Amino acid sequence: MTPDNAQELHAHPAEVMKSQLPMIKRQQFPDDFVWGVATSAFQIEGAAKEDGKGQSIWDLFCRNTGAIADASNGDIACDHYARWESDLDIVSDLGVNAYRFSISWPRVRPTGSGAWNASGLDFYERIVDRLLQRNIKPYVTLNHWDLPQALQTQGGWVNRDTVHRFVEYAEGIHRRMGDRIASIATHNEPWVIAVLGHEKGVFAPGIANRSAAAQVSHHLLLSHGLAVQALRAQNSQTALGIVLNLSPMHPATSSDADRALALLEDGRLVRWYMDPLFKGSYPQDVLEDLGADMPVVHAQDMKNIATPVDFLGLNYYTRSVVSADGSWKAGSTGLPVTEMGWEIYPQGLTELLLRLHKDYALPPVLITESGGAFRDVLEAGSVHDFERTQYVQQHIAALADAMRQGVDVRGYMVWSLMDNFEWASGYEKRFGIVHVEYATQVRTLKDSAHWYRDFLKQDNTQRATAC
Ligand code: FCB
Repeated sequence: MTPDNAQELHAHPAEVMKSQLPMIKRQQFPDDFVWGVATSAFQIEGAAKEDGKGQSIWDLFCRNTGAIADASNGDIACDHYARWESDLDIVSDLGVNAYRFSISWPRVRPTGSGAWNASGLDFYERIVDRLLQRNIKPYVTLNHWDLPQALQTQGGWVNRDTVHRFVEYAEGIHRRMGDRIASIATHNEPWVIAVLGHEKGVFAPGIANRSAAAQVSHHLLLSHGLAVQALRAQNSQTALGIVLNLSPMHPATSSDADRALALLEDGRLVRWYMDPLFKGSYPQDVLEDLGADMPVVHAQDMKNIATPVDFLGLNYYTRSVVSADGSWKAGSTGLPVTEMGWEIYPQGLTELLLRLHKDYALPPVLITESGGAFRDVLEAGSVHDFERTQYVQQHIAALADAMRQGVDVRGYMVWSLMDNFEWASGYEKRFGIVHVEYATQVRTLKDSAHWYRDFLKQDNTQRATAC
């Protein structure tokens, strides 16, 4: 036994755990680095039918038997529509300088075309103004999956008309509050909408058709490019971009079959979105694999999709591993997994950022989501979520590593501010740094929130002393 670990044996367990954490300090990052927390409308707002809100595809999808693990829905969720003010107090207490949230399209334009809903617009405008009063920059996402059901009835994202309805929606929001929003992301994770929503059918709108999915991805990308052009035509001062969910794609073994599949899956997840956005074309191998399922693409579409953006948002949770015989399971390599069954793999974030930096002329990058679901226990007013704290710290350290190697990363946002409706997993999976007791809607800061707040304060303390 060395003197070092002798001391460890006598230390308080919390101190021992702390010693396992990477040393990161806010001062290591640029002064204007964006530190935030993120949410999305459907996952927190509730008030599904209040004040003129229209139905979204998720309102309907939740009613399908077996669609949601705990048979729940977003009718009440975190009741954020009523509790937005006290929720923003929590955001402010954390000491973040940015809050990423989404606007519910059917709340502001109930049928996706036609009349706008004044109380819906007012709701988001109040949020924006309150954030500004607190010196917190509003980071808005326009489409975090809750398409107005009335548009779905007309084919939804498969129908090219939806592209134009989306551009109108973007213009309407921008006209109303674009002067005060720091950043607008058009879509959140188009891969999820296309593949989980239209190819596998496990997310709304629950369609399982590969050719529909390919067309949807094309329309999402096109509507992104056209919306960016439309907002620029309104002389937008807001940073405009899109949020993708990307990860390194690793073959489970070095067999030819696993390697070939990993390459194709990388094409489907990463290059299918990155190539059109930053190179103006779809990857040939994926087009060939799609064959007759490839999307209908009009002249000018590719040029429009590649409209320059001000930032790329990345949501990173884990790496992807593929095996041709489907036998690979997360956890089989001994790495810890979260409650979602996702491997904890922070080095994948560094790897991903370096690869994107090498392969594309990247705009500034923001990590728009990063976090984990863990088995939280609320006990005597505390949640000791050491694993989540560690997860966040390791991922911040991983992005710092990529920055040191030359990648222009401008911000990091934790998913999520608070526990919420985790889509097909319902309320069973908790991602918040703030605990929500759904029966009472009581919010409790978990240890991870306390850590994040202390981490963010470090810098202020430093500067106060320095002055
Ligand atoms: C992302 C979503 C977000 C949340 C996290 C866990 O794919 O953007 O809404 O569900 O996963």
